Amino acid sequence: MDVDFKAQLPLLEAYLTGHWLTDFANFSAFVFHTLPSLNWAGFYFFDGTKLTLGPFVGRPACTEIRPGRGVCGTAFERRAPLLVPNVDEFPGHIVCDNASRSELVLPLLLNGTAIGVFDLDSPDLARFQDSDRVGLELWIAALLRKLPPDVLLGRPWA
Ligand code: SME
Repeated sequence: MDVDFKAQLPLLEAYLTGHWLTDFANFSAFVFHTLPSLNWAGFYFFDGTKLTLGPFVGRPACTEIRPGRGVCGTAFERRAPLLVPNVDEFPGHIVCDNASRSELVLPLLLNGTAIGVFDLDSPDLARFQDSDRVGLELWIAALLRKLPPDVLLGRPWA
């Protein structure tokens, strides 16, 4: 079940081009197909008011989330990762896919500014460990390092 995030990093980096849409899309697909037991992996980007759905792999999902709402909006507002072992026990959890049982959300932080979140859902209870958080932070850092900060801070998705 454990993924060697460090060992997979060069493979991930080989897919990164420096184009934000291309890289966010491939990042979602890379995570979805590298981590076992996921039913959704993807991005929500902040447009200045709300989080809007970005590239993802999985069933069609809710298109807008307000900061402070659900697991995604809470992690975004706190600017901190949020690991939820059982989504039924998280007040305000937003159901996108009935199959989801546990969730991990990581904020996308750029020079201290939160620009969005990366969200992972699993059909298994307690699927995510702290080692997943650490590994995904490593991968997200590699992703953001590759992209021009002025492009991202300009919110090209809005
Ligand atoms: N469950 C999330 C909503 C996004 S979907 O899972 C793709 C939440 O509570 O924020």
